Amino acid sequence: TPTLAAAANRTGRYFGVAVAANKLTDPAYAGILDREFDVVTPENEMKLDATEPRQGEFSFANADRIVDHALARGKEVRGHTLLWHSGLPGWLQNLTGAALRQAMLDHVTGVASHYRGKIHSWDVVNEAFVDGTSGRRRDSSFQRTGDDWIEAAFRTARAADPGAKLCYNDYDIENWAHAKTQAVHRMVRDFRSRGVPIDCVGIQAHFAGVNPLPADFRTTLSNFAALGVDVQLTELDVEGSGAAQADDYRRVVQDCYSVPRCTGITVWGVRDTDSWRASGTPLLFDGRGEKKPAYYAVLFALLAG
Ligand code: G3I
Repeated sequence: TPTLAAAANRTGRYFGVAVAANKLTDPAYAGILDREFDVVTPENEMKLDATEPRQGEFSFANADRIVDHALARGKEVRGHTLLWHSGLPGWLQNLTGAALRQAMLDHVTGVASHYRGKIHSWDVVNEAFVDGTSGRRRDSSFQRTGDDWIEAAFRTARAADPGAKLCYNDYDIENWAHAKTQAVHRMVRDFRSRGVPIDCVGIQAHFAGVNPLPADFRTTLSNFAALGVDVQLTELDVEGSGAAQADDYRRVVQDCYSVPRCTGITVWGVRDTDSWRASGTPLLFDGRGEKKPAYYAVLFALLAG
């Protein structure tokens, strides 16, 4: 039987997974990873606290293990993430103003240069918009350096790795009716109109009771694609179990496939026991590595596409 990646490749798409470096030596984990997925995203190893624990001292060993594992097996890598308000190391929290702006851009240059030529797509900026109905930017130390911090980051990333696609990535932007979705859409439209280098929008797609799969998801995907960017589902998981969960997964794949520029799907972990949702069962493989109904729903939807 075909694998998820092979099935997705039939329409020129990829099927990816978030990976933790310290699990690569688990044979059950690595076996599923190597067999089923053709793109990997380091779950935490490329974040700022991991890659620049002290200012100007970069630390790439764990991320390199994932990148080397993937590239040696002909897989591609999504870089996640150059800039995020969360998980900032102490040295950076102590900076403000021009010093912080420079440190921020130096971080982008340092990490993107180290991986130049090896990254398919970078999540340059993650989660910069606030939740709720205001449609505003999230308050963060980066945001306090000026509204132009996001475009400065994208220009710097482009200079450091001209071959990588550059994405803006966020959650709760699945529902087109939401103010946050439309605010991100406005930013991307503005970037495209002014020549700020952005190639893709990453829609995390963490679906749960508080964020159910919306009926208008494919409208959101096609409205972003209409701006001239690719759309990627970057952190897919669906709370639940059994047939209901499988049905949601099927609909997600069908929504992506309804939009030619929805170019790939990444699930946020291999087995349920690998998920950041400690108590849930949101993924495609159970804790023993067995395929769940959701796995078959995804596979058949990919094959039907
Ligand atoms: O590995 C350390 C361990 O050494 C330490 O003793 C322990 C004590 O806190 O922490 C361990 O690190 C944890 C790490 O996951 C690995 O398990 C961190 O505390 C914990 O904060 C971290 O959580 C990650 C979270 O992002 C925050 O960075 C999750 O694994 C990861 O799945 C989650 O991913 C995010 C995306 O990056 C952005 N979108 C939302 C998504 C889900 O929250």
